[in-house]
Amino acid sequence: MSPSINNRKDEYGEDLSKFGVEVIRSVKSVMPEDMPLIMRMSAIEYIDGGYGLEHSLRIAEKFKEAGVDIFHVSSGGEGVPGTLKPGNYPGYQVPFARAFKEKLGIPVIAVGMLDNPQVAEATLSNHDADLIAVARGMLNDPYWSIHAIKEITGSVNPPSQYSRGIR
Ligand SMILES: Cc1cc2nc3c(=O)[nH]c(=O)nc-3n(C[C@H](O)[C@H](O)[C@H](O)COP(=O)(O)O)c2cc1C
Repeated sequence: MSPSINNRKDEYGEDLSKFGVEVIRSVKSVMPEDMPLIMRMSAIEYIDGGYGLEHSLRIAEKFKEAGVDIFHVSSGGEGVPGTLKPGNYPGYQVPFARAFKEKLGIPVIAVGMLDNPQVAEATLSNHDADLIAVARGMLNDPYWSIHAIKEITGSVNPPSQYSRGIR
């Protein structure tokens, strides 16, 4: 789906959504009907000349038509250095998630430095995203979600095996 990486001259190069659409339709055809298909997408590329939000939203529209139920919105990931990378601040990818949510009208997952529970809660409460994902925060603390609930609501009921240890 990247015009800067996909140099094919055939129909998969002419229509940058074609490969994704075929994969989505194929996957969807064997999935249980009540199981949502969640797709991770990079909203922008970081490499010089890489695609921007307008492009990813156009492609995402096609992916939605093909059967995607929820988008998990990330950025970058080309594996080569680039200058377009947003600053590494809490919630740095949330505006991308919000743009997908507004444009496509289906649930989105935001990700990227959301491990401060207040920031995570704000992302949900402000309706920037419907779900949030935490990666490095979970590596640091596998009980992140239990601790986050406690910080936000003031109390938590962990599984009884953990109740004497959870602080
Ligand atoms: C060890 C590790 C492995 C990851 N592997 C993938 C991956 O295979 N595919 C992917 O899209 N993102 C991958 N990521 C990126 C995370 O999904 C996430 O988007 C990123 O770390 C930002 O979220 P965070 O600030 O909560 O860590 C990985 C991150 C880490 C730390």
